[in-house]
Amino acid sequence: MTDKTAELKTEGGDYQYPVLPGSVGPDVIDIRKLYGQTGKFTYDPGFTSTASCQSAITYIDGDKGVLLHRGYPIDQLAEHSTFMEVAYLLLHGDLPKKDELEDFSKTITYHTMVHEQIVHFFRGFRRDAHPMSVMCGVVGALSAFYHDSTDITDPTQRLVASHRMIAKMPTIAAMAYKYSIGQPFLYPQNDLSYTGNFLRMTFGVPAETYEVNPVIERAMDRIFILHADHEQNASTSTVRLAGSSGANPFACIAAGIACLWGPAHGGANEAALNMLREIGDAKNVKSYVDRAKDKNDPFRLMGFGHRVYKNYDPRAKVMQQTAEEVLKELNISDPVLDVARELEQIALSDEYFIEKKLYPNVDFYSGIILNAIGFPTEMFTALFALARTTGWVAQWNEMISDPEQKIGRPRQLYVGATQRDYVPVGER
Ligand code: CMC
Repeated sequence: MTDKTAELKTEGGDYQYPVLPGSVGPDVIDIRKLYGQTGKFTYDPGFTSTASCQSAITYIDGDKGVLLHRGYPIDQLAEHSTFMEVAYLLLHGDLPKKDELEDFSKTITYHTMVHEQIVHFFRGFRRDAHPMSVMCGVVGALSAFYHDSTDITDPTQRLVASHRMIAKMPTIAAMAYKYSIGQPFLYPQNDLSYTGNFLRMTFGVPAETYEVNPVIERAMDRIFILHADHEQNASTSTVRLAGSSGANPFACIAAGIACLWGPAHGGANEAALNMLREIGDAKNVKSYVDRAKDKNDPFRLMGFGHRVYKNYDPRAKVMQQTAEEVLKELNISDPVLDVARELEQIALSDEYFIEKKLYPNVDFYSGIILNAIGFPTEMFTALFALARTTGWVAQWNEMISDPEQKIGRPRQLYVGATQRDYVPVGER
């Protein structure tokens, strides 16, 4: 608390509102009493100026291009940490000690299998279903299988549900892929790392031994770290909003997956690679940049721009470096990487993009890496959902434990018809 206040002058009177400081970043004006005192709401479509909660998990300074998880810079985590360590950090607030990390990894490993009945559930989907539709359906259905972890008033059940979701997402995502190509599902193999296990369940077959390539494993793990959390983005806010009604955690994460699917959010990595392929050659880049600048053309450069970052997305830098490493390891020379480099260079020196502060975001290079590893584009957003599940469960747990938490219920500026009388159908 501080003594700072903000003053609001209205025709009905003047009001003072407390200004609350964060540990870092902008202060917020606490307007919780605004409606009660003034009879007015605030209007903020897209919540561009609204803090919906307090959180101690992730901090972003979009102007400086800073992303911290529990205080740790994302580039340090991507360089030195593992996804398991970051998952623990997000969930528990501190980096784990050696024995804590071992226990956590063992707990997650213990939950990697899915109920055998889920195999039958999968068979109900068309083979050509988008993996995100499968993920929404199967994750939502987990609440029908794990009744002993849906009581949100019990902290132990909340933790078990969180572990289950972090553990089962790779299994479910790999099953979605296997189902789409008509190959048998592989059970998890728990002597592998979280990421190595996922690669084996995705690309292995029962007829052969699968050797995990350590460079690919590290790159994939880094991609998971880079997608693990991103404060109150659309899907995280969706998880919190769904959870605010007391809905069970599996249903809340399914809601987050549904939101993430959109091309303006998690679907952008798929859209970015499709766009780079459509551009096809570095010599075509300029015409696409011109289209992106044309007010009368709805085309946007996918993988460019961000609601919060008005500087280079720190995740994009790590992603670019990882793309170079993976292509080198796999000995792939993908013309799409040349298109991406050229596009980045032209866009970053173009007045339109400079003025609007549009920089490459995390999705610009991730598609190139995932494609090189062997994932079809439809799987990209499912991988994002897999990684973001750690952030979602951390944010959901934080919300449920917050004594100030209330059901989320935004208000509106009503602009529809005023009251009128019903007219029978024959008289209209
Ligand atoms: N290409 C061309 N122009 C753009 C782009 C782009 N990618 N992004 C924004 N603009 C322009 C936009 O036309 C607008 O111009 P004007 O002010 O003249 O109307 C201005 O920049 C501001 O755009 P906005 O839509 O008001 O900004 P926003 O903060 O609401 O949108 C965004 C952020 C990410 C939805 C948007 O930049 C976008 O659609 N980018 C492409 C999709 C994409 O890459 N999304 C992934 C986001 S990162 C992953 C994640 O967190 O999910």
